[in-house]
Amino acid sequence: MDEREEELKKIKNEILNLVSSPLYAERVENKYFPVIGEGNHRADIMFVGEAPGENEAKTGRPFCGRAGKVLDDLLQSVGIERKDVYVTNIVKDRPPGNRDPLPDEIAAYAPFLDRQIKIIQPKIIATLGRFSMAYVMTHYGLDFELDTISKLHGQVFQAEGFKFIPLYHPAAAIYNQHLMSTLKEDFKALANL
Ligand code: URA
Repeated sequence: MDEREEELKKIKNEILNLVSSPLYAERVENKYFPVIGEGNHRADIMFVGEAPGENEAKTGRPFCGRAGKVLDDLLQSVGIERKDVYVTNIVKDRPPGNRDPLPDEIAAYAPFLDRQIKIIQPKIIATLGRFSMAYVMTHYGLDFELDTISKLHGQVFQAEGFKFIPLYHPAAAIYNQHLMSTLKEDFKALANL
């Protein structure tokens, strides 16, 4: 096991035992798994979604349901293989009923995301949706640029040692063809980086 794998395993064990999390009881009651992240530990691109949905919590794998299919199609459309990127979420356990994550849930799990970023050292962080966008921008000193996702999507920012591109959440494009074309364009911008 290399050093990165060991550090990521430590994160997994800590989250497995995170009884202080506001979502821990929900996980246990439903026999769910936490979703830590998946992919290449030396990836140039790291995707940060919002929180696991039901399929993800049942399997422990990020973006493996309907939104995951959209993500896979978008990656394929620009010739990026999913095995070459790293995919995670800001919140690692499923909020009940797929509701938006609450501030205390984001606060409980964000330190793990920070550590994953430090370990993997991606060249590009692409956030999926407004919650991970707001967290990454605030945490990495880009809060003065913070605006709505409809204004910021597809723009490229420089942060501490990486480029940052906010993207719409793939789930938002499932019933909205207009957003799907926007996401496709933004994925082209991502691939060009
Ligand atoms: N939506 C997310 O934000 N993350 C997942 O892993 C799945 C759906």
